[in-house]
Amino acid sequence: MTEPLRAIQISDHVFWVGAIDWAVRDFHGYLTQRGSSYNAYVILADKVTLIDTVKHSFEREMVTRIASVVDPQRIDYLISNHAELDHSGCIPQMIHKLRPERVFASTRGVAALADHFHLDEEITAVKDGESLSLGNMAVTFVETPMLHWPESMFTYLGDERVLFSNDAFGMHLASSERFADQVDDAVVECEAAKYFANILMPLSPLVTKLLHRVAKLNLDLDVIATSHGPIWRANWHKVLELYAAWAERKPANKALVVYDTMWQSTAAMAQAVCDGLISGGASAVLMPLKASHRSDVAAELLDAGALLVGSPTLNGGMLPAVADVLTYLKGLKPRNLVGAAFGSYGWGGEAVGQVEAMLKDMQVELVADSVKVKYVPNDQALGGCVALGAAVAEKLKGLGAAG
Ligand code: FEO
Repeated sequence: MTEPLRAIQISDHVFWVGAIDWAVRDFHGYLTQRGSSYNAYVILADKVTLIDTVKHSFEREMVTRIASVVDPQRIDYLISNHAELDHSGCIPQMIHKLRPERVFASTRGVAALADHFHLDEEITAVKDGESLSLGNMAVTFVETPMLHWPESMFTYLGDERVLFSNDAFGMHLASSERFADQVDDAVVECEAAKYFANILMPLSPLVTKLLHRVAKLNLDLDVIATSHGPIWRANWHKVLELYAAWAERKPANKALVVYDTMWQSTAAMAQAVCDGLISGGASAVLMPLKASHRSDVAAELLDAGALLVGSPTLNGGMLPAVADVLTYLKGLKPRNLVGAAFGSYGWGGEAVGQVEAMLKDMQVELVADSVKVKYVPNDQALGGCVALGAAVAEKLKGLGAAG
């Protein structure tokens, strides 16, 4: 017998009614190896209120879960914290089938929903700090622009000390458990870090500001009800501490060596660079791009102090996998990095210069001259690669990168 799709109670009058996506593996280039969830919530107040919806294809799952605690036709209010389709995908159906009395979003949310769905029904704009009465309870809205889109906001239910934080503090993790304290700590921290690195790293200064703002609001909190992955309850403060550290991006004494190779020459150079880093006292992570997804490189970069990138030259350029990962990482705007470039070549040898230029464009401080080797590295050339790694390790030491 299959498990019925039930709502899960998260506070006296709040129920999780979302959907678990065990199959999703790609979120705009982010490998969601453990799937994800789209968390919607229903508040059983005088005005029955639905907070967000789920991805379009999961409508039945959400509605079935809602129906396990309340007739979906009784939903009075629908609040959209974020217009991205993983949360707003069922808004048109909910409006047309359930006819809620009112639908709310931030001012920019109203515009974004209009641009997505071109609905005739009115959506009411709410402002930062505004409260909305649900009859016997009330919610307050907190605008969180750019976390993750310009129109994003939090909704806070003070009566039950629940913060609906949408994309913030979430993770891509499908699980039968609904609360973070029910899942292995190492898995939770690993997936939360990967999510931060791949989605929020470029917004780190805004995350820091948001955390200060949340602290100033002095919200009484029992639960942070995110829109992806498990919900934070007793240990909710842990994710705030992690976010504060990640947003600061204080580099550790750790270097990533990322490369692709044609005939194993650049691979041999990468290994030698890695040896140099380790002998120089740094922690090193070797990431061959034939075996490393770009989003796992981003996750490893979250606390790294150095990025070393290797590519042979193919048709006057770097290998496609190297261009892919550099383009992706550039968009994530990692700060406080030192690094270097290396690679083998046959005649033109343009790739290493192109990698160097990309690293400079990413504000990576190049520590030493790049190493280029014609065709196959001999012992002397490999010694140059070891020296390159050791020079980067020395620089990390000089910067006081934490071990
Ligand atoms: Fe989970 Fe920005 O959407």
